[in-house]
Amino acid sequence: MNKKIQKAINDQIQAEFESAHAYLAMSLLCNDKSLPGCAHWLKSQWQEETGHALKLVEHVHSRGGSVTLKNITVEQPKWTNVEGLFKTVLRHEQAITISINKLYELALAEKDYPLQILLQWFINEQVEEEGSVQAILDRIALAGEAGASLLFLDRQLGERA
Ligand code: FEO
Repeated sequence: MNKKIQKAINDQIQAEFESAHAYLAMSLLCNDKSLPGCAHWLKSQWQEETGHALKLVEHVHSRGGSVTLKNITVEQPKWTNVEGLFKTVLRHEQAITISINKLYELALAEKDYPLQILLQWFINEQVEEEGSVQAILDRIALAGEAGASLLFLDRQLGERA
């Protein structure tokens, strides 16, 4: 595996672990706000992001490359309301989409075919993730997040498999 590719994948692994950490911090915040469903949804997202990072680690290792982790530097999430929190999640996912797309462009430029194939999975995953967060925000825009609406939303988010 060429060094440029290895470094770029290492950076993406770092970004995935940082996403995971950010979502777990948000989950803990929701727990403190007595929103177990939101906490569950975000904790599931933490698991997904960890899975993404490990998928990339496995790819590097199976091609004889090396992974080095850096410190996690993620800001503590600030509480405004559920909408504010999920808007932060959406912005975060949009930034990840950009970094995945850049990695794909590099894989094309370097003619790294195995990485291109792996990243097609990630590109689809980003479409799905941005879509699911946008759907939550659409629901909040429609029904608000006061009283029963918030309890209903929280219950639904708690049903995430
Ligand atoms: Fe692994 Fe949601 O980006």
